[in-house]
Amino acid sequence: MRIHDLPTPCAVMDLDVVERNAEAMAAKADALGVRLRPHVKTHKIPHVARLQTPGPFKGITVSTLAEAHHFAKHGFTDITWALPLPPSRLAEAAELAERIDLGVLVDTPATAARLVEARRPMRVWLKIDCGYHRAGVDPTDPASMDLLRTLMEADHLDVRGVLTHAGHSYGCKDDPEGLLAIARQERDAVVDFAARADHAGLGFRHVSVGSTPTCSVIDDLTGVTEIRPGNYVFFDLHQLGLGVCAVEDIALSVVASVIGQHMGRMVLDCGALALSKDPGHGEGYGRVFDLDGEELPIALHGLSQEHGLAKGYVPGLEKVRVLPNHSCLVAALHPVIYGVRGDEVVGQWAPVRGW
Ligand SMILES: Cc1ncc(COP(=O)(O)O)c(C=O)c1O
Repeated sequence: MRIHDLPTPCAVMDLDVVERNAEAMAAKADALGVRLRPHVKTHKIPHVARLQTPGPFKGITVSTLAEAHHFAKHGFTDITWALPLPPSRLAEAAELAERIDLGVLVDTPATAARLVEARRPMRVWLKIDCGYHRAGVDPTDPASMDLLRTLMEADHLDVRGVLTHAGHSYGCKDDPEGLLAIARQERDAVVDFAARADHAGLGFRHVSVGSTPTCSVIDDLTGVTEIRPGNYVFFDLHQLGLGVCAVEDIALSVVASVIGQHMGRMVLDCGALALSKDPGHGEGYGRVFDLDGEELPIALHGLSQEHGLAKGYVPGLEKVRVLPNHSCLVAALHPVIYGVRGDEVVGQWAPVRGW
């Protein structure tokens, strides 16, 4: 089957590009002397995770417990669930942790107290806020060391280490110096905390950082033991705007049909449920190419649920390929992702759904 024969809208991943991206980040981790624990929320497909973990270390990062169950079923036994543990899922996580090496995140005294009270053996990571201000403890607040001590004093808890994520790196469009500064801030926040913990007699084994933008630009990870980028395996227009990939590195796209041709405008069958409404850098909802890879003079400026609204007019155009703003959201929206090599469809995989 060829790309042109696929039912639209559909998501396709170019496996040659996926493999190239996976190899490049694995080589970067090797060069920096850290292990790579890729975040698989980008695709939610074990086949892709295997391409990302070619070496002896097979650890992965997930964003949902559903992903943890699914990847465990497919042979992954070292999994970090990189979301602060919701108390309503503690029992289920503890049950899974009896069968595999599952690490959970803690960043509040309330969650730590629940884990202590539950008396279930668990592996835990202390989540640190390195400036993103989404989750994590303030590493400069003495209360963060108290929280670490609470976790370490519980015999049934195995504190793996500290973990952080510099999501604020996504704001560095056209700002390579700012991006490098955030990558160093991400590293320094956890490395400094680890040194202070060591000094306080609270040493641990692992120091984990990572986002695709920061892992792409960082040149020295002394003191860090692992990185957790995820998006790099597909990349997208957001990463392109940050300068950490080229158009040719974007592996995921959405194939859509032209379902309306009007003077000066067109309608495509890829709406918000095929592309997501992630605004990216505010330059439209995707870049539009023909199936031969030529970029078209079409601006995808609006999305309703199933309609994509484009300015431009290309007589006779039937199908297009759209590079998305945010590939992780696109992959999570589609029931299957087709794998292609060149023009040929060579397989299809279903991302795991739900939480
Ligand atoms: C905790 C955590 N680690 C790692 C990542 C991977 O970052 P990226 O998607 O930039 O590769 C994410 C992404 O949101 C995350 O939340």
